[in-house]
Amino acid sequence: LRLISNLLLLLLSCCVCTAAGYPFKAPLDLDVTPRVTVLSSGLQGCRRFQSSAVNYSTMLLEAESERLYVGARGAVFALNASDISASSALTIEWEASPEQKRQCLLKGKDNQTECFNHIRFLQRFNSTHLYMCGTHAFKPLCAYIEEKMFVMSSQPEEGRDKCPYGPTTGYTALIIDEQMYTASQYEFRSFPDIRRNSPSPTLKTEDAPTRWLNEADFVGSALVRESLGTSSGDDDKIYFFFTERSQEQTTTYSHSRVARVARVCKGDRGGRLTLQKRWTSFLKARLMCSLPEYDFHFNMLRSVFVMPGHTPQDTLFYGIFGLEWKNVKASAVCRFSLSEVQEAFQGPYMENQDSDSKWKEYTGKIPDPRPGTCITDALRAKGINVSTSLPDDVLNFVRRHPLMSQHVQPSDRRPLLFRRTTDYTHMAVHMIQGLDGQKYHVLYMGTDEGWLHKAVEVEGQLHIIEELQLFEEPQPVKNLLISAKQMSMYVGSPSGVVQLPLSNCHRYTSCYDCIFARDPHCAWNGAQCVNIMSHVDRSTLIQDIQHGSRGCENTQDDVVQRSRSVRVGDDVLLQCELSSNLATPLWTLDGSELQGYGLNSGFRTGTDGLLVIEARQDQSGLYTCYAVENNIKVAIVTYNVTIRLDLPPPPPHPSSERPLPPPPAPLLPHSELLSPRNMEAMYLSLITILGGLCVVLTVVLVYVGFCLRVGHRGKYSLRAAAAAYPNSKKHNRNKKQHRSSSHMELKTISSHCNGNGICNGVSKQHNGDIQDGGFLQIVPGEGHPSPNKEPPPPAPPLPPTPQLPSPECDFPNGLSATLPSVLRRMNGNSYVLLRQSESESMSPLCYSFAEELNRILEKRKHTQLLPRPDESSV
Ligand SMILES: *[C@@H]1O[C@H](CO)[C@@H](O)[C@H](O)[C@H]1NC(C)=O
Ligand SMILES: *[C@@H]1O[C@H](CO)[C@@H](O)[C@H](O)[C@H]1NC(C)=O
Ligand SMILES: *[C@@H]1O[C@H](CO)[C@@H](O)[C@H](O)[C@H]1NC(C)=O
Ligand SMILES: *[C@@H]1O[C@H](CO)[C@@H](O)[C@H](O)[C@H]1NC(C)=O
Ligand SMILES: *[C@@H]1O[C@H](CO)[C@@H](O)[C@H](O)[C@H]1NC(C)=O
Ligand SMILES: *[C@@H]1O[C@H](CO)[C@@H](O)[C@H](O)[C@H]1NC(C)=O
Repeated sequence: LRLISNLLLLLLSCCVCTAAGYPFKAPLDLDVTPRVTVLSSGLQGCRRFQSSAVNYSTMLLEAESERLYVGARGAVFALNASDISASSALTIEWEASPEQKRQCLLKGKDNQTECFNHIRFLQRFNSTHLYMCGTHAFKPLCAYIEEKMFVMSSQPEEGRDKCPYGPTTGYTALIIDEQMYTASQYEFRSFPDIRRNSPSPTLKTEDAPTRWLNEADFVGSALVRESLGTSSGDDDKIYFFFTERSQEQTTTYSHSRVARVARVCKGDRGGRLTLQKRWTSFLKARLMCSLPEYDFHFNMLRSVFVMPGHTPQDTLFYGIFGLEWKNVKASAVCRFSLSEVQEAFQGPYMENQDSDSKWKEYTGKIPDPRPGTCITDALRAKGINVSTSLPDDVLNFVRRHPLMSQHVQPSDRRPLLFRRTTDYTHMAVHMIQGLDGQKYHVLYMGTDEGWLHKAVEVEGQLHIIEELQLFEEPQPVKNLLISAKQMSMYVGSPSGVVQLPLSNCHRYTSCYDCIFARDPHCAWNGAQCVNIMSHVDRSTLIQDIQHGSRGCENTQDDVVQRSRSVRVGDDVLLQCELSSNLATPLWTLDGSELQGYGLNSGFRTGTDGLLVIEARQDQSGLYTCYAVENNIKVAIVTYNVTIRLDLPPPPPHPSSERPLPPPPAPLLPHSELLSPRNMEAMYLSLITILGGLCVVLTVVLVYVGFCLRVGHRGKYSLRAAAAAYPNSKKHNRNKKQHRSSSHMELKTISSHCNGNGICNGVSKQHNGDIQDGGFLQIVPGEGHPSPNKEPPPPAPPLPPTPQLPSPECDFPNGLSATLPSVLRRMNGNSYVLLRQSESESMSPLCYSFAEELNRILEKRKHTQLLPRPDESSV
């Protein structure tokens, strides 16, 4: 409840900001909008690998051999890392035997997912062999792969202690010096466990009297070679990351699950009597990732990326966190430094006195040597060379005090990124030096719907450079790897593997576009946006990662020029698509800014252009569309609009011939209002009205909040609609065989849209022609077979249209609220400007005209309001 009320509060405060006319800013600037949206059809330089197998969730990248090994369901592949789509892929088929599948089904397991051999583990074993483990239809097996020939080098061996039974069980594992460290809840209903497997001594976590792990769901692990360059003779350590049921309770919060980091020492050999074959160095601490001022605690750790530093001490851990509520989409990215983690392990311990009570900080005496530490020179000096020589009281303490009291706080004590509406699943980070000499961290984050967000960190904040749709079919990103050598990124998913370049600078078409992007890989060379890697002489390149605004003052960007010529009284749509989701449009007429885009001003702006309603002659002139981003105005397109009288004026509006509906009766007659007798009634009414207003306002604000939430998504649906266009056309044609009625098509004639939904840049050749680009138009009659050819000739002036449904009409489907009120004309055709519901009109940037009309038209198509619709009724 607290969370929901907080969410509401957050939403409301955002809405209030917007209603007050401020640009939308989430608290702390954390809810970041991706600057550019790229659909899968617009991806460039993208390579794909697919086979008959599914669930490509395990990946191993070997820089030296330039091979990418991929484990899927029932198969392992060796791909050429420089081009994974190359036909040179090697395959090892490894399916579960039919007998094993049958037994799996007998156990009542899911025949769609569980009774297969899902490869869960694939890593290098030694210089000649890889090692892999598969679930093998609920009977895990492991096997060696001879790398050169890429064949299984021996019969598979028992994998029960190394690999979970199910394909989705939390699991992480490492091979270090030919020893395998695994963490999982291996069998159904067994306790989760962190293990070191063969060769002996095998070690495990302790279950009694204090359970060290509680329903732990493991997401990652890392070896940090802390023995390198140490003065204390410290040991290497292995860190494990997971979410588990919380044990501690304090007054400020109560969460059922918490994110944790645990660590063990690599040289641990267990205790002699106490903690025999158990870790003597197991410690765990809570990972915090929260927005305390909103009481948002991201307790679910979804994945971890380990970023090695110059020295092991500089290691960074990036974590993707989610909320505990499964149906609330939200993600936070937090970064932890190794020293923060170490500090927590140096701090006080937690304790619970009896098994029923919750844990609290231990304040008693701590035995010496400090429990849970690795064997260091100090211990060796005392004659303790191995963990089996540790005194019993220390081991007993370790056994009962696995949890540290201090929380591991993220850098800056807050998330780098917080996003509602997105569930990130995996991430990888790449470091690159910008032209300013600074090292920038570029984060690549995959979502549960198959998108990739690329973000750069600038002063503790993330700027999302772009979001890429990797797959047409929504599917979760299952794995993500980066190769600095190939300058590529590899993404595993249920349906296949995708390889993408780390950057695509050519996407940015102007100097400002290149600068605003703030991609550290990209810079403007005076003519185009280029990858800085391909330039030896970088002195002339322009880049501004810090501010995303400087350097382009002296460059001349080309502005597309067009002209429009229409009749008085027509409506004109001047198209202006902004490529950046962070830009806002600004229109000028003959150099002065258009004020007030409201319904009565004669102008309305949408995400795709400016609508001039009922053009008057004095509205002729030079219109310029600017994209405003980072407080910089960049001209995109100019329209020379001529509004002429010399064509016959449009017929009178049908609606103007109808009597206006009577004005609503006043709530209280004016004369009685002042009489004291009615004061009481008036107050009561006032209170009721005010109360009603409050409710309405709240609803509107929530709606506006929602609108903002989907705000930048508007572009998807517009482009998606454009992509679906050829299909819907076919669909319409088929339909016509059943119904004889003619149909309408609404389309945006736009010369730079190629029909696949991507409107990349604007071609400049089309100039000064009334038929080119940008009119929202209804094409009467037959659908034209080739939409890219000339638009149809203008329709003759319309006859009066008695069929036009009156606004007062009530239709059984409740559409009356959006019914047209005025028949309008544009470009020789007619259409109806639909009234928008009030909440929408409050936020003028929430809609696009084409989208709005398409939506209504789509609705109409199915409801068939009129048996024979003609153009006047659309
Ligand atoms: C495997 O792939 C199938 C289809 O692509 C999907 O439905 C299923 O959820 C995937 N299973 C796992 C464990 O990812
Ligand atoms: C991988 O592909 C590249 C070019 O596509 C080629 O030069 C290279 O030899 C290939 N490597 C292997 C191991 O096949
Ligand atoms: C899986 O089991 C369901 C019912 O238990 C059955 O309808 C379905 O055909 C089975 N699918 C396969 C691939 O065996
Ligand atoms: C690597 O391990 C495999 C499997 O144990 C073994 O057969 C092979 O000889 C090892 N290779 C080297 C170079 O040690
Ligand atoms: C510990 O190791 C040192 C040298 O590594 C050795 O001199 C000493 O005898 C060892 N002590 C025990 C108790 O094994
Ligand atoms: C706009 O077009 C008209 C003719 O259509 C022309 O006379 C005028 O010079 C043009 N204005 C500009 C600024 O190009």
